Amino acid sequence: MNNIVTRIFRSSLGKKYIMALTGFGLFGFVVAHLIGNLQIFLGPESINRYGAFLQGLGELLWMARISLLVMVLLHIWAAIKISAENKAARPIAYQSYNPTTASYASRTMLMSGLIIFFFIIYHLLHFTAQIPGVNLSHQDFKILHDEKGRHDVYAMMILGFRQPIVSIFYIIAISLLSLHLSHGVRAMFQSLGWKKKSYANALHCFATGVSIFIFVGYISIPIAILLGFGKEILK
Ligand code: HEM
Repeated sequence: MNNIVTRIFRSSLGKKYIMALTGFGLFGFVVAHLIGNLQIFLGPESINRYGAFLQGLGELLWMARISLLVMVLLHIWAAIKISAENKAARPIAYQSYNPTTASYASRTMLMSGLIIFFFIIYHLLHFTAQIPGVNLSHQDFKILHDEKGRHDVYAMMILGFRQPIVSIFYIIAISLLSLHLSHGVRAMFQSLGWKKKSYANALHCFATGVSIFIFVGYISIPIAILLGFGKEILK
């Protein structure tokens, strides 16, 4: 057993599988998190109930958080190792390297991944740890509660995204996340051996469609708030 695990972690194919499976898990989280967050458009009751439900999961929530962290770390580790192995296998750069043959998304995976990583750290300090200094609104998000005594996630999001600099940073990070996923989802299918010629086009369309859904879905929240959505809470 120990031997199998060591072989998976050492072999190039094993690392590709680790990349694909952790990417799949993280992708699932990104879609689920988006669906949860979109409840802001249903009003405070809906999103605050959802926030209270998540907090009420207790140990299960912590198990999900730890699994996410392990997936992120394994994903980054595999990305760095695969990239180093590819470089070592090709010590001399291609004589006539033509970047137009590889998509922009595929050439910028390490860079976009790194920026997304820093965005997640900021995002955790902003909305999960709710450190007052990072939200730029001079508000302490921890003291926001609705009339039912639940954490007021609705007010936190409205106050958080009314800061243009914060919203712009989110929009940039979400754009990079969508770019990363547009290539990542396709690469994942390839690593898992699901990219047969007969349905390559369908997988391409799926990867593009889902990236657009993630992009439009996530950016709709800061944009709507910058345009005045939820401003009734300021009265
Ligand atoms: C408009 C965009 C987003 C909004 C409004 C949003 C909202 C939130 C909120 C309110 C929380 C805190 C939940 C709580 O502790 O009660 C949260 C946590 C989190 N978000 Fe986001 N999020 C956004 C984008 C993203 C993206 C793009 C990612 C990943 C790439 C992400 C990853 C996370 C993670 C990992 C947590 C921590 C979950 C936990 O510890 O419970 N979020 N988000």
